[in-house]
Amino acid sequence: MRTSLQDKVKTFIALKLQRKRNFLKKSNQYRWNSPVYLFTNENIHDYLIQLDNLKNKKILCVAGGGDHVFESILAGSKYIDCFDINYLQKHIIELKSKMIIALPYNEFMAFFFDKKEFMNKKIIAPIFHTFSSGLQQFLNMYYKSNNLDYFEYRGPTIPRYDIKKISYIRNVRQYNKLKKLLPTTQINFINSNCKNIINKTNQTYDVVLLSNIFDTRFTRNNIKYKLFDFYNKFVQPIFIQCLNPNGKICFAYIYDDKLYNSCLKQSIKNLILQKNTKISSIIIDSINKGNDSNIVLYCKKKL
Ligand SMILES: C[S@@+](CC[C@H](N)C(=O)[O-])C[C@H]1O[C@@H](n2cnc3c(N)ncnc32)[C@H](O)[C@@H]1O
Repeated sequence: MRTSLQDKVKTFIALKLQRKRNFLKKSNQYRWNSPVYLFTNENIHDYLIQLDNLKNKKILCVAGGGDHVFESILAGSKYIDCFDINYLQKHIIELKSKMIIALPYNEFMAFFFDKKEFMNKKIIAPIFHTFSSGLQQFLNMYYKSNNLDYFEYRGPTIPRYDIKKISYIRNVRQYNKLKKLLPTTQINFINSNCKNIINKTNQTYDVVLLSNIFDTRFTRNNIKYKLFDFYNKFVQPIFIQCLNPNGKICFAYIYDDKLYNSCLKQSIKNLILQKNTKISSIIIDSINKGNDSNIVLYCKKKL
């Protein structure tokens, strides 16, 4: 009871103190109450299938709009801890999970991707009573204010990304598969900065997905140092403390293949690695319309 009250109050304060979406764009600083991502802007499915067989693997991933979680489940995982610096992302994961379990594909698609139906409360009315008090608070405040600044990346308004790259959006059968798998999968949300995650979990994992947190932390000058800095401060501690033998950490999703070829590829060689580390990359079709490919860098803990 106390927890649900805290959740409600925290959500209320988060939204009252929220800064405009522009702040995130200008500063690239993610906060506990930033505007929320509803969907990924990564081609997660295509790199996961090249990475590993995830059947029964334990995953740690960035929460965001939940798509790293959902793609991991579709790839076979039954246990996922997801973390985010932004407390409000937990509401989005709950909202999408409960909608997928209870509602048909066309209603889910209309709710998020049809401009006229966006966030239409009638669509979720039959399941609203099953939502946590924090999620109800989030939605009630949105319906009262109609403040689209609550959302950083909304499906219908960002045509830059090819959302058909997301498995359960592209294919109704995958949506229905997720509907069956979600109730039997353990998903835990941890409100944490990536830097502190090792202190917030006592688990070890087979696969860790750090999304493009690296990308959000660098300015384009001095990128070599930034990679070095990110790897030492964020990746290495997870590698040492939380990664199982043979485990892998996808530590940088790179949208810009030119940037990768011009300097990042070279700067990987300067990283100071544990002896049992191997670094590799995966090239995938780009999710950005107009780009050729995206690149995912990962390290493996050799046996
Ligand atoms: C990196 S962002 C960008 C969207 C991402 N490409 C995706 O596909 O979801 C995704 C999420 O990472 C979170 N995030 C950013 N920096 C973080 C950090 N240092 N620690 C934890 N979460 C972070 C943001 O709050 C956001 O929800």
